[in-house]
Amino acid sequence: GAAELGPYRHYMQKEIFEQPRAIADTLEGVEAIVPELFEAANQHAPGDGAYPTFQSIRQVLILACGTSYYAGCVAKYWIEAIAKLPCQVEIASEYRYRESVPDPATLVVTITQSGETADTLSALRHAQSLGMRHTLTVCNVATSAMVRECKLAYITRAGIEIGVASTKAFTTQLAGLFLLTLALAKSRGLLTEEQEHEHLKAMRHLPSALQAVLALEPQIITWAEQFAAKENALFLGRGLHYPVAQEGALKLKEITYIHAEAYAAGELKHGPLALVTSSMPVVTVAPNDALLEKLKSNMQEVRARGGVLYALADDDTHIQSDDGLHVIRMPGHYGPLSPILHVVPLQLLAYHTAVARGTDVDKPRNLAKSVTVE
Ligand code: G6P
Repeated sequence: GAAELGPYRHYMQKEIFEQPRAIADTLEGVEAIVPELFEAANQHAPGDGAYPTFQSIRQVLILACGTSYYAGCVAKYWIEAIAKLPCQVEIASEYRYRESVPDPATLVVTITQSGETADTLSALRHAQSLGMRHTLTVCNVATSAMVRECKLAYITRAGIEIGVASTKAFTTQLAGLFLLTLALAKSRGLLTEEQEHEHLKAMRHLPSALQAVLALEPQIITWAEQFAAKENALFLGRGLHYPVAQEGALKLKEITYIHAEAYAAGELKHGPLALVTSSMPVVTVAPNDALLEKLKSNMQEVRARGGVLYALADDDTHIQSDDGLHVIRMPGHYGPLSPILHVVPLQLLAYHTAVARGTDVDKPRNLAKSVTVE
């Protein structure tokens, strides 16, 4: 009811603004990177314990649906770069029905807000039936079927999420997955004490960094007013921020019904560039990372064809607003944790565009919060 909503118009907006708290709660009590952080729930399905498991595996297989799948796609970059483990991410409904090559030395990681998504549960059971017994879930509901069925778990503390379009569940999943990456790296002797300390410091700073991003809302509203009249939008990102672009496009289509697609920016010239006109807004996630110069030339390709760019640029990227280029400056650069910050303006963009279009933000047509049947 209205009382619970406080100053917010919709649950989705409230949940977007709860993210600093949700991340703080999810990381509460994490003083050091220890594998035991993942043993919260294994009394249901006793296994070997997290440390022996993390030491014995040779690869990671992530299974999820929807927004949780995009969290997995971000985690793949972290796991390969920091824990040096090969990592595959699969859409649960694809994995469960295809013939794959099982390796018992795999850590199977499911990601699910509800812990009850039918496809993700079936994908887990399929992996188990193929002899993969090292299972871990990053899940927001401690009492869910998924937590009961996995040997290891990290319970995110987003709190109950009501908006069908997932927001705080996604960013808390990312926090849990980053911890998992660090725990895997440490178990494999790949994390120095100094690196551990630096990563923990950066994670502890996330709630205040998120507050600074949420303060950009008025600028996002200006963008949303322009998006409200559009029927198509493109989202571009590279590396870690490609799945962020995908999540931004998903949010926009879920609640505004604008057709939105995300591309890895380097793929622009292999097709979507043909769609670019002045009526196609192109959102670019532009953190100041090693791929910035490449991304800038992708942006040039869009502008040269009359496309209108909306860039979320880190403070130190020197990308300036110009004709056909709208820039919102993100506070600072956040290294590997940057996806947790860059997704927030995209959530707000989808939200305010939906409000401007008058759609039913918290209950978009044809969609359910949790899909417990196939
Ligand atoms: C539904 C929801 C999405 C969610 C997906 C996976 O499609 O509308 O917001 O990302 O299910 O749900 P899960 O609970 O497994 O994360």
